[in-house]
Amino acid sequence: MPINHPMTRVLFVCLGNICRSPLAEALFKKHVTAGDFGLHFETDSCGTAAYHIGAHPDERSRENARKNGLEYDHLGRKFSLKDFRRFDIIIAMDKANRLSLQKENLTDHGHIYLMRDFDPMGKGKDVPDPYYGGEDGFQQVFDILDRSTSTLLKKLENGEVL
Ligand code: 4NP
Repeated sequence: MPINHPMTRVLFVCLGNICRSPLAEALFKKHVTAGDFGLHFETDSCGTAAYHIGAHPDERSRENARKNGLEYDHLGRKFSLKDFRRFDIIIAMDKANRLSLQKENLTDHGHIYLMRDFDPMGKGKDVPDPYYGGEDGFQQVFDILDRSTSTLLKKLENGEVL
């Protein structure tokens, strides 16, 4: 089914909004900028928890992204019920994040997905939480998000998601 409005609004959601979802948003935007796409996007990220409201992304995530040629920033915020109205598609990083969203989904927002629904190398798996791990974990998350956001963008462009 083709998308019939010019702006597609995409929200990336994790737990703390300092590791996975701000990076997912930045990588999605990188792919949008690099491509020649017909769609226009408004994007944001947030957390299901309030631990890091107003905080910049985790410095370990940013340092790892820098090594991969990506600079980004974001200020942490918590998911709000208004986001169900504001965004066309909501992408949860793991099943616990998705469950938190589903519990709040009283307006029956129909487009909540798992990030790795779009990962050709790990369909349906969680994006692992790198917060308590080492450097390897941040690179693993970067690679997962790089390819998942690229596939998400292609599927949106082809009208295969909304
Ligand atoms: P994120 O990672 O959900 O990818 O941002 C986490 C960041 C912080 C915490 C947990 C996960 N925390 O417990 O503070």
